[in-house]
Amino acid sequence: MSLAKLNPTQTAAWKKLESHFNENHHLEMKHLFAQDLNRANEFSIQFGDFFLDYSKNRISSETIKLLLELANECGLDKAIESYFKGDLINQTENRAVLHTALRVQNETPVLVDGQDVIPEIRSVQQKMEGFTAEVISGSRKGFTGKAFTDVVNVGIGGSDLGPDMVVEALKFYKNQLNAHFVSNIDGDHVNEILSGLNPETTLFVIVSKTFTTQETLTNAETIRKWFLKSGTQQDVAKHFVAVSTNIKKVTEFGIAEENIFPMWDWVGGRFSLWSAVGLTIALAVGYDNFDQLLKGANRMDEHFKSAKHSQNIPVVLALVSIWYNNFYKSESEAIIPYSQYLKRLSAYLQQGVMESNGKDKDRNGNAVNYQTGTIVWGEPGSNSQHAFFQLIHQGTKLIPVDFIGFKRSLHGDQDHHNKLMSNFFAQTEALLNGKNTATVNAEFAAQGISGEQADFLRSFKEFAGNKPTNTLLIDKLTPESLGALIAMYEHKIFVQGVIWNIFSFDQWGVELGKQLANVLLSEIESKNIGKHDSSTTNLLKHFLDA
Ligand code: F6P
Repeated sequence: MSLAKLNPTQTAAWKKLESHFNENHHLEMKHLFAQDLNRANEFSIQFGDFFLDYSKNRISSETIKLLLELANECGLDKAIESYFKGDLINQTENRAVLHTALRVQNETPVLVDGQDVIPEIRSVQQKMEGFTAEVISGSRKGFTGKAFTDVVNVGIGGSDLGPDMVVEALKFYKNQLNAHFVSNIDGDHVNEILSGLNPETTLFVIVSKTFTTQETLTNAETIRKWFLKSGTQQDVAKHFVAVSTNIKKVTEFGIAEENIFPMWDWVGGRFSLWSAVGLTIALAVGYDNFDQLLKGANRMDEHFKSAKHSQNIPVVLALVSIWYNNFYKSESEAIIPYSQYLKRLSAYLQQGVMESNGKDKDRNGNAVNYQTGTIVWGEPGSNSQHAFFQLIHQGTKLIPVDFIGFKRSLHGDQDHHNKLMSNFFAQTEALLNGKNTATVNAEFAAQGISGEQADFLRSFKEFAGNKPTNTLLIDKLTPESLGALIAMYEHKIFVQGVIWNIFSFDQWGVELGKQLANVLLSEIESKNIGKHDSSTTNLLKHFLDA
């Protein structure tokens, strides 16, 4: 069954939300807190080791009630069922969307075209487990008989961002293998990484769902040439493995079939880290930790499937975000993890969110007349406080922020952790309350600032506050909690796509640039500039003259 094709702005709930917004958009959160002592309890959800406080938002019980009505009118329950069941909800590519099947913890059949996919998943997982154990223990060796010391993941987009983010996030749990990531077509990227590596002890994992991606194939070819300066063609088999759906292309490239880890077209690239695309993760932290990551994601899947919408973390996050995106017209959302280990999280989520929901056609193929995908960005706190937080506090744009923090640090340095977390809580409090004239005046009095100087400075020192935040407090950064965190955002993306009536699992918009790059490459190589706009022609002339 495909997803319903309903324009959300035509629902009764949307209309009610519009009038509700018109009547209430000026409300100040700090007054809402003052009026309702139960507010923090009402707008929070505890799920296992996750505690979500979403009370610091410009919402009332009525707002949430209407947003939940919107979700119901848009058929969210049915959509969730179709998603997990393997219906062809990626209709423009005629595919199921089943990354959730990769992390199921039982053997209940999940059918694609009438075929149970669980046995295939288990067989690839067993292959990954065996392979990673051999590499990590050193029993699988390179062409000169030495154990592997380095692993290079070669891929781009979903074949890079997920593994890269997770390996960084789980560094605390890593083993002796050093993981590297080559993605960019920029030759300086691959050559820089190769310059620090020994071909005798390096394993290359070429990851490409399609095995047609220019960047990955070019990088893989460059690496093979570099490798062949030391090893022979036969040795390639020991040092190169691939992850792909395109077995034919991989074997044509010269990678033996036993060194291929298959994936399936029902796994979208940006949701693929749970498949063999996560091989570098399993190599870097061991298969048991990779398995914990899957377990955590599955735990969130079960919560998403079964919790009622009002108590469902991904649903609530998606709805609150729709409130700002479609009613307050805020354009972006920041994601600020208070963990340096999560420094690649927002880069990873940028693909997840923006490639999925950056769509201007609805599921009927018509142009949408409302906003869809948000812009996502962020950096870890506390660093980001000293970079872009000024604009969030006192800029002219409304930027809802997700704060993600952990009760316990990994290295156990309590002094640092207390300081980190005091910044974490301070920011959401500052964004909520701002700083009023009375407080500024009291500070001036204490500092001996008065008269004209005080009058001049006062407005600059005031903060309006009323800036929305969600706070997610998790016990500890573990493979399990990370899996749940990623799955939480995946489901938020899904819910938003369902309500916005768009197809979240295709990405036609990235194709045009790829096509034009192919045309331009032949013009650059032949120094024969074709027909372009005058700007592009001029730029090409400058480039070719260089
Ligand atoms: O350019 C977009 C994209 O298709 C992404 O969706 C995907 O994750 C990436 O390219 C890489 O694709 P592949 O794994 O097929 O090389």
